[in-house]
Amino acid sequence: MKQLRTQVGIVGAGPAGLMLSHLLHLEGIESIVIEAQSRTHIEGRVRAGVLEQGTVELMRLTGLGERLDRESLLHNGVYLSFDGNRHHLDFKELTGKSITVYAQHEVIKDLVRARLDSGGRILFDAKNLSIASFESSPRLQFQQNGEAYEVACDFIGGCDGFHGVCRPSIPEGVLKVFERTYPFAWLGILAEAPPSSEELVYTYTDRGFALFSMRSPTVTRLYLQCGPDEDIRNWSDDRIWEELLRRLTTKDGWAPNRGPVLQKGITDMRSFVVEPMQFGRLFLAGDAAHIVPPTGAKGMNLAIADVTVLSRALSEFYKNGRENLLTAYSSTCLRRLWKVQRFSWWMTAMLHRWDSQNEFDHRRQLAELDYLTSSRAAMTSLAENYVGLPLE
Ligand code: FAD
Ligand code: DHB
Repeated sequence: MKQLRTQVGIVGAGPAGLMLSHLLHLEGIESIVIEAQSRTHIEGRVRAGVLEQGTVELMRLTGLGERLDRESLLHNGVYLSFDGNRHHLDFKELTGKSITVYAQHEVIKDLVRARLDSGGRILFDAKNLSIASFESSPRLQFQQNGEAYEVACDFIGGCDGFHGVCRPSIPEGVLKVFERTYPFAWLGILAEAPPSSEELVYTYTDRGFALFSMRSPTVTRLYLQCGPDEDIRNWSDDRIWEELLRRLTTKDGWAPNRGPVLQKGITDMRSFVVEPMQFGRLFLAGDAAHIVPPTGAKGMNLAIADVTVLSRALSEFYKNGRENLLTAYSSTCLRRLWKVQRFSWWMTAMLHRWDSQNEFDHRRQLAELDYLTSSRAAMTSLAENYVGLPLE
């Protein structure tokens, strides 16, 4: 078995794992990232697209700003659309902050390049990973290209997403699980069509939710509320476009531009939290510890927030020998996380059709949207959550 040694062994090369490795490197702390998939796979995986201002500032501050500043799209607000009318929420005016549209896989590409350019180690295609002795002297074992490896480390960053192995390796009874599932899912497409609005449009209709977003001046990203067990094979491109246009077109004639579908997929919706986010020397971060429904665009931003807190705590440990920030890691993250859970749940509840028979709820949701778009206090509350709450 090949033996390797590092300070922090990181499982997973998603936004959490790669950003943790990058931040630790800037603090002079060594890490090895172990990833089950190939580099090509993770750099092409289509997922989230909205960065909070804090995420963008962190990327700039840590040398990841160049391509981001060149290729990303700065948005000063979003539209809420209901009853066939779009209402603009001006985040910049309400909070002084903005959001940025830059695809998650572009963040991944920037992070992979930054790590490899500075001599960082990312071991791709690592199979059958298991973790041992994470209460005292952690070890990670796996296979790569048919060869067995063991990485000995001081700490493990459990950044392997919702379906990873780190969280399930924690003994039963240690973690408390909080969970909610939703009776709907999102069908998402990327379309080769210039975006017809400069900002996102979140839409509520009596047929359900739809979202207009974008990736570049030539690519539109669109989502549609669908049933939880929907089979993508039942959704031809024509059927998707017909439903999108029906929900998104407004009374003044605004509609997305139609174009060839480049990619499509269905994402289920869940709220999930484990407490605590730590056991022994294993620290969970990002989707490994929590999932939010995508309506608030928070998943990737939360992953980055966790590892920012974790890298500071590890830096305090290695530089000053103090464990206080490591001890506080879970409670620091969870305090903010629950506020983000609340926001994501609230946006989801307000913008989706729960039960097409229930006319009371439909009217109540329309009234909530009407209030939200006419009260400055309500708009400010949405805006400050959407652009991102402070880290601590
Ligand atoms: P991940 O990005 O999941 O990264 C975990 C990494 O660990 C992966 O690379 C995985 O291959 C690796 N891994 C897993 N198991 C192992 C193992 N045993 N050994 C080694 N490596 C392992 N959020 C939004 O805000 N908007 C969206 O539209 C949106 N769409 C999404 C669509 C999908 C299909 C999914 C799954 C998520 C979506 N999200 C969205 C959520 C957002 O993308 C996640 O919150 C974000 O990716 C979390 O980052 P992470 O690093 O914690 O986990
Ligand atoms: C996108 C995804 C989201 O979940 C969201 O709330 C806004 C935008 C996107 O992929 O562009």
